[in-house]
Amino acid sequence: MEKNKEKIIFSGVQPSGELHLGNYLGAISKWVEMQNEHKCIFCVVDYHAITVKQDPEILRKKIIEAAKIYLASGINPEKSVIFQQSAISAHTELAWILNCIARISDLNKMTQFKDKAGKKQESVSVGLYDYPILMAADILLYNTDAVPVGDDQSQHVELCRLLAKRFNSQFGDTFKIPELIIRKEGARIMGLDDPNKKMSKSAGSSANYIALTDKPEAAMKKIMKAVTDSGKEIIFNKEKKPAISNLLTIYSLLAEEPVKELENKYKGKGYGDFKKDLAEITAEFLIKFQKKFNSFTDEEVKEIMDEGAEKIKSVAEETLRRVKERVGVIQ
Ligand code: AMP
Ligand code: TRP
Repeated sequence: MEKNKEKIIFSGVQPSGELHLGNYLGAISKWVEMQNEHKCIFCVVDYHAITVKQDPEILRKKIIEAAKIYLASGINPEKSVIFQQSAISAHTELAWILNCIARISDLNKMTQFKDKAGKKQESVSVGLYDYPILMAADILLYNTDAVPVGDDQSQHVELCRLLAKRFNSQFGDTFKIPELIIRKEGARIMGLDDPNKKMSKSAGSSANYIALTDKPEAAMKKIMKAVTDSGKEIIFNKEKKPAISNLLTIYSLLAEEPVKELENKYKGKGYGDFKKDLAEITAEFLIKFQKKFNSFTDEEVKEIMDEGAEKIKSVAEETLRRVKERVGVIQ
């Protein structure tokens, strides 16, 4: 991406399950860095969350919680827009039109669907299958230049680019083609209980992840219990030492110390010392984070999201109007 030029940035997180350190380090913390230089739009993608069964009361709470997590992470509503996806109906309308551009074969390539649906491909919702199209609509409505996400979303952003290009070639130049932004380290934080699987809110065990709302003491215990590799050296080597490399990445990002320096710092020391320090750093991070999280009332957060939607609604509506004109449904 061209440096020092204001770009439009769009990203989002689903308000479901427990948001965890992987979401923060892989995506949200990157957003915070970007908001000083760019025009950023961060969406709470509630329509994505209902692609799997949700309890309405819990969903309502999770929507507020996701927005609070953005704010506690340092997203500043004076600089960036925070809004709820379902507040702007252009998202689902554009998704329908893009559904008619996308092919079954495009969606059949999506590996996340295969992972999520597993053996139940015939019984999961149509929404779960179709969700990358809604995600493409989210991005394209705002003339987005770049989309910062974790590694697991790169295929979906690629699909968005493909659909935008296909639409443009069929109907004339309409959409800007967005770039994918993946951070070099931290784009794929792995599970604490299994360094070969990504940290995930849908993991079977809560020992897999550190939720951003975990009690600091509980998080410390999870770090102390995290799986390690054979040998005892603290060195970064994703193939040979996946567990320690993952913990080093988390440490490095939370403490803002390069991995190389951490390797030196822990030369001659064992996993126990290293984990104790990481546990403390994690607890400190969570204490600060949660203090900020708790400083917002639900009412305040709702207001921030309503104002956010109000600010950008016209951009989405204008894009949708252009698209409808191009496909021939507006006279
Ligand atoms: P989701 O929780 O699926 O809505 O993901 C929200 C954002 O967090 C997306 O940009 C994901 O790519 C990112 N993300 C989710 N899990 C991880 C992980 N284990 N490591 C890094 N980024 C992640
Ligand atoms: N699908 C993304 C996820 O599960 C969330 C998402 C929805 C998103 N729409 C988006 C991310 C648009 C970036 C841009 O993580």
